[in-house]
Amino acid sequence: MPRYTDAIYPGSFDPITKGHEDIVRRTLDFCERVIVAVGHRATQPKQGLFAIDERVEMIEAVFRDEERVEVAAFSGLLVDFARERDVHLIVRGLRAVSDFEYEFQMALMNRDLNPEIETLFLAPDARYSYLSASLVREIASLGGDVEKFVAPVVKERLLETLRGR
Ligand code: PNS
Repeated sequence: MPRYTDAIYPGSFDPITKGHEDIVRRTLDFCERVIVAVGHRATQPKQGLFAIDERVEMIEAVFRDEERVEVAAFSGLLVDFARERDVHLIVRGLRAVSDFEYEFQMALMNRDLNPEIETLFLAPDARYSYLSASLVREIASLGGDVEKFVAPVVKERLLETLRGR
């Protein structure tokens, strides 16, 4: 009996980009349910552009019509969150070789912390291979158009948030 009916797709999602959306949709092709889990790197300042609940709201809005997607925030270790949810599969997008070192380290550390959990890397559509949330934030903050890179609801929220600064 396969144990990987559900997957957790963790990340900072500050904000969710079309690259992230692509990974969620690819995961739905082979999993019954995806939990998009919004966390943060403990080594980085907690405060990003968007508060965690705003990130959750945007992801929920993007996947409003997809009942197989659940969105949640977590604050401790990812492996503990996975254990709580009884999910054994973590999905991460791998854009380029530059992602590899950090991703490999994280996958092996998570396996060390909980050998029951497997990490699966997915390549995004090539259109999104150079896309990142940090570039989106930078482009938007400098007045560039991010239409191609994020959902309309996210673009709106970016403009609102940056206007208010
Ligand atoms: O989008 P990001 O910033 O690459 O996501 C990183 C994230 C949030 C998935 C990672 O930092 C994480 O899992 N944080 C939770 C804390 C944790 O479990 N740290 C140990 C990782 S080996």
